Amino acid sequence: MTSQDLRQKYLDFFKNRNHVVISSSSLIPENDPTVLFTTAGMHPLVPYLMGQKHPSGTRLVDAQKCIRTGDIEEVGDVTHHTFFEMMGNWSLGDYFKTESINYSWKFLTGSEGLGLDKNRIAVSVFEGDDDAPFDAEAYKLWSDIFTANGLSVERIAKLPKKNNWWGPAGVTGPCGPDTEIFYWTGEATQVPGSFNDDNDSWVEIWNNVFMQYNKNEAGEFEPLAQQNVDTGLGLERVLAVINGLSDNYQTDLFAGLIKKIEELSGHQYGETPEATRAMRIIADHLKAAAFIIGDDRGVTPSNSDQGYVVRRLIRRAIRYGRQLGITQDLWIKEIAIIAISEYQSIYPEFKKNEAFILDNLDKEEGKFNRTLEKGLLEFNKLSAGGISGEEAFNLYQSYGFPLEITEELAKEKGVAVDRAGFQAELKKHQDLSRTASAGRFKGGLADSGEETTKLHTTAHLLLAALRRVLGDHVTQKGSNITAERLRLDFAHPDKMTPDQIKQVEDLVNGAIVSDFQVICEELSLDEAKKRGAMGVFDSKYGEKVKVYTVCHAEHQAGVTPENLVAAFSQEICGGPHVENTGILGHFSIQKEEASSAGVRRIKAVLTK
Ligand code: ALA
Repeated sequence: MTSQDLRQKYLDFFKNRNHVVISSSSLIPENDPTVLFTTAGMHPLVPYLMGQKHPSGTRLVDAQKCIRTGDIEEVGDVTHHTFFEMMGNWSLGDYFKTESINYSWKFLTGSEGLGLDKNRIAVSVFEGDDDAPFDAEAYKLWSDIFTANGLSVERIAKLPKKNNWWGPAGVTGPCGPDTEIFYWTGEATQVPGSFNDDNDSWVEIWNNVFMQYNKNEAGEFEPLAQQNVDTGLGLERVLAVINGLSDNYQTDLFAGLIKKIEELSGHQYGETPEATRAMRIIADHLKAAAFIIGDDRGVTPSNSDQGYVVRRLIRRAIRYGRQLGITQDLWIKEIAIIAISEYQSIYPEFKKNEAFILDNLDKEEGKFNRTLEKGLLEFNKLSAGGISGEEAFNLYQSYGFPLEITEELAKEKGVAVDRAGFQAELKKHQDLSRTASAGRFKGGLADSGEETTKLHTTAHLLLAALRRVLGDHVTQKGSNITAERLRLDFAHPDKMTPDQIKQVEDLVNGAIVSDFQVICEELSLDEAKKRGAMGVFDSKYGEKVKVYTVCHAEHQAGVTPENLVAAFSQEICGGPHVENTGILGHFSIQKEEASSAGVRRIKAVLTK
């Protein structure tokens, strides 16, 4: 089965059960300062899990682009990926455990689904603890299914929170017990009688989360008013399993990339463990970097936040390429070109942003190449007795070695790097007081506090004002909002003049004192496009989207073509927003600077 078949089969299965197919959200979370990337299918849906109404209804299904950077260093084995797709079906206060479990069983084993061998399946459920009780309902549902299919209930494991609990994604937010489904990938004749967490031949293929709690700031689990189902199947892993492959990199989701790497390096996948590992890392990292840059809220390599992740991925791939003997100049885009051609029908934004992706890959490769060689020489000079914080910082500052590369090189040599010393040097040399790490993870995803909401509405006003002052070429290239300030990246070639900045501030403050209404409507993408709403339009499915319009109070009845001209701003957006602009306070721009080529960055605040 190909990845296209699998993805489609899954979406169709749930579409036939009244789920609306929604397209993947951006990899860069909108309006959420708590995480750098979308790490699971549930992530963009948090407001709806918390009770907001989703424009497409209460049953949804999708394949979501995800990035997980937590285990970058593990990439290189058979199952870890930075970029992956998570398929998921969702009940937003609609069905609960009965349907969820029965759908999963039917999809996995039935003829309309994957038709997997029932005898190779085991599951686990939550055993209960002080926070929440044993999931007796899930246990009963599985035991009925297993019994009816002649399987022993010994295949249903009861496990603790560590195994069978999911969320919240941030510190606070929706969460609950889950049931995991495993597939035996060993010999058919040797399926054990029960599930064993330590046996790698049991591969987790699906996780059904029953979100019935909200973890609040006090760390308590309070029941959610709305009971939801959040499920996740990793496309890469399931594809490997159903094709009888023990290595995800042998599926069609990687085969083209690996083939290109073989061509470039003159080595074969499987030739040596080192070559295989290097090829996996290169394929994984460059695909992920291309997806991040090519997202509609795409980010380019830099020294902070998501940009730094992209930089690390690219530079690590280049180093492994070098190790593999790739000598061609500016080769990494070759891998991206394959990825784009293979994924373009699923993710149209990938193709649309192709030139931008390739250009940025070339630039980053050129930059790193200029210093890599010298940096390696320098490293070899230093490394005899271990690397001090100062030396690691010098490799970073002068030769562009992310700390992780220095650490990896040191590991290969069997010497240590003073990580804490490096961090101290970095602090000394840089203004890292901003979001960087600690602060970023403070709040939970779900607590979109009042200040954040205000700044979010202000970001809409700002974008509209920029377009009025600078022109219609201005589009949003990214945003990041904390409770203290907003940051907006936008396409514009030149530095803004003080006069332009003043005009933008005046326009935004004018909109605030006019006390405009903020109206939310649910429209089809076509309608939204006709309206001239700003935002991301890529979608194959014709789903409904929310459009937020900021306009005079008399237009409250809705935005008609006649009064459209009077609307201050219209954007496709998930919200939340304030209801009236009058409460926003005073707006001022604190900084206007270059973010990357053709992209400017504004930092702004609201004061009383
Ligand atoms: N949210 C669940 C996961 O990511 C489905 O595993």
